[in-house]
Amino acid sequence: MAVRQSPLLVPLALLVLVWGQPPVDAVLPPSFRIEQTSDSFRLLLQDDLLLVDHGPGHAAVVLGTGTTTFKETTGNFIINDTITERLPLSSFSVSAESESAATVTLWSSTDAESTVTLRFSTSADSVLIGGGAARPERFDRLWLRLHAEPDETVFGGGEQYTFFNLRGRDYPVWTREQGILRDPDNPLTDIISLDGGAGGDYHTTYWPEASFLSSRGYYFRSVTHEYGALQFSSEERHELYTQSAGALDVRVAAGSPLQLVQWANTGRQLLPDWASEGVILGLEGGTEFMMQRYQQARDAGIKVAGIWIQDWSGIVNTAFGERVFWNWRWNETHYPGLDTVIQTLKADGVRLLAYINPYLNIDGDIYQNNKDMGYFLTDASGAEYVQDFGGFSCVTVDLLSEPASAWYEQLIRTNMLDLGISGWMADFAEYVPVDAVSAGAAALSSPAALHNTFPALWGRANRRAVTAAGKEDDTLFFVRSGNTEQAQHAAMTWSGDQNVDWTTTDGLVTTVVSALSLAIAGCGLNHFDIGGYTTQRPFFVRSEELLLRSAEYAVFTPVMRTHEGNRPDANVQWYSNERILAAFARLSRQFAALAPYTRAALAEYGESHTPLQRPTFLHYPNELSGYTNLTGYQYLYGRDLLVAPVYEEGAQSRRLRLPEDSWVHLWTGEQWQGPQEVTVDAPLGQPPVFYRADSEWVELFKQISQITE
Ligand SMILES: *[C@@H]1O[C@H](CO)[C@@H](O)[C@H](O)[C@H]1NC(C)=O
Ligand SMILES: *[C@@H]1O[C@H](CO)[C@@H](O)[C@H](O)[C@H]1NC(C)=O
Ligand SMILES: *[C@@H]1O[C@H](CO)[C@@H](O)[C@H](O)[C@H]1NC(C)=O
Repeated sequence: MAVRQSPLLVPLALLVLVWGQPPVDAVLPPSFRIEQTSDSFRLLLQDDLLLVDHGPGHAAVVLGTGTTTFKETTGNFIINDTITERLPLSSFSVSAESESAATVTLWSSTDAESTVTLRFSTSADSVLIGGGAARPERFDRLWLRLHAEPDETVFGGGEQYTFFNLRGRDYPVWTREQGILRDPDNPLTDIISLDGGAGGDYHTTYWPEASFLSSRGYYFRSVTHEYGALQFSSEERHELYTQSAGALDVRVAAGSPLQLVQWANTGRQLLPDWASEGVILGLEGGTEFMMQRYQQARDAGIKVAGIWIQDWSGIVNTAFGERVFWNWRWNETHYPGLDTVIQTLKADGVRLLAYINPYLNIDGDIYQNNKDMGYFLTDASGAEYVQDFGGFSCVTVDLLSEPASAWYEQLIRTNMLDLGISGWMADFAEYVPVDAVSAGAAALSSPAALHNTFPALWGRANRRAVTAAGKEDDTLFFVRSGNTEQAQHAAMTWSGDQNVDWTTTDGLVTTVVSALSLAIAGCGLNHFDIGGYTTQRPFFVRSEELLLRSAEYAVFTPVMRTHEGNRPDANVQWYSNERILAAFARLSRQFAALAPYTRAALAEYGESHTPLQRPTFLHYPNELSGYTNLTGYQYLYGRDLLVAPVYEEGAQSRRLRLPEDSWVHLWTGEQWQGPQEVTVDAPLGQPPVFYRADSEWVELFKQISQITE
């Protein structure tokens, strides 16, 4: 870094954006410099990438005060963030400390307490921005403004569902239920939202992050657990809004999209070999029912890799219907003989998966035997915090407290892994009330940070349990909630609870957007509930077409897992008729045949940290100029497959973008040349899938195209 005391021309010869270059292992060596005049300063990365542009009428930092209230109803939050004061800081001074560190101090001449320091420095791979408000007790919120170009696109924001390109909208950073329908323009959303905001909106998500990739060639990541937002609704600037006003913790890296996404990904996700051998069938209803369905699948020729039973711990009857008994141990009444069945299935090459979350039903013996141990979140008075989960009441395991987390990790080992369970849905973690208290709270920047911190603690507990048991290579657990730390822990994600419908706000295609945004956020191994989950008679129930469109696309993802949905009887299921059984048999064989390719992509993920499902612009950066929203509705699976799921009801074709390469249509062998937008025939069973003509996997792809029954 260098602080220059006078404005200098940007040296154009130093072209930093290496678009189109072959992938290298690292982002660009970080560097920055600051140019200043008497009333403005500009921070440039890599000499010419303008990141912060401060001057009269466009302050880089704004301080504020206000009140924020959160009203929680079963994981939905109505947030009232009322700003009472906004103070742009126009005065500044710059001081260089060394070649790689500088501090910019900003203040408003109208308020002596308004000082903010921005401390810029470089680490091995990124430019760090620290500092913050000198008096956060006076100003409890801060906006950091970044320069933006009109045609710039931005991606990430954690897990997003509706829009892949985030530009033009604001994205609160608050983990919560993703919502049902998520479309305030739809009157049905408003009706659903009468129940505490359950309808959601375009930004409601289990896994929000204040991090994004810019098409201008940088990646911005802010670690903040207090409430905040990424704000992209302005033409001129991006804003990080944070209530961690006193403690900025930002990293910015520069490079090509591929380099930056590799940098953002940890590559720590896990996929055991067995998961690529067939479908994981989501079933409920006890041992006998489960085994009947399994036999039916085998008889139909479906390749089965696993059976996933959510209700392994039993069922409770509530006013809302049957719900899983949240008391995490094998229920021998509901699943008699499960211990031996697990071994029989294993001998068949089929694994058993179960379910767990960080809550315990207070009617269960696990809670009863462990209450008063200090293992659960409390309220301000120190009493265990009991929450209504819709017909039953639960406590939350205090995963920030080491003794409590260790206890729960041991429970996962004893009650699940030791029983022979090979994987589970690690559900929830978004419901921590804002007034809940943890015994480990000393580790938090403020009590308000517990809510957004919790999802990664849940991922960590699962990961530690699996690691301690020595079963990382053999176990598949999948989470939905997250934050900037979660990718260090999660083995993989699933996309949460889509509606069993075709909407672009909560239906089938949102699973593509979620995989791509998570790939940018740093978690490059994802899957989804085949056919969706949320069912609401008579408004949305799963049709045969939706189930099959969803399944045919899951062939080209890392895991094929079905879910019966929250109303199994209302939905079409893989076992509903012979036609669907035959289709599942074919799709499961295609999926299993693709296993060598999937494993190679997974190995690549471990080495170079390139996500399995990727936006085309990672390998074809030209796709970023003239970006169209089709980009968020299609993806590369590994390096060589381009997949564009059919997401419209009744559609027999689909429009997609072929990036600059030679592409072979999987089902017809016809060759197409990119770049171009094309409409491709897509009868049921033949989603638009292309492979690169010069792929080393051509023979395998041809074999898959021949699996027609
Ligand atoms: C939000 O909070 C402010 C200030 O506390 C209050 O005046 C306002 O009425 C609230 N808005 C809603 C919609 O509740
Ligand atoms: C097991 O599940 C059954 C029915 O699902 C339930 O009635 C019973 O209470 C559960 N038993 C135990 C010991 O949790
Ligand atoms: C994508 O772009 C098309 C064409 O401009 C438009 O009709 C469609 O509504 C857009 N979809 C989204 C989700 O923005």
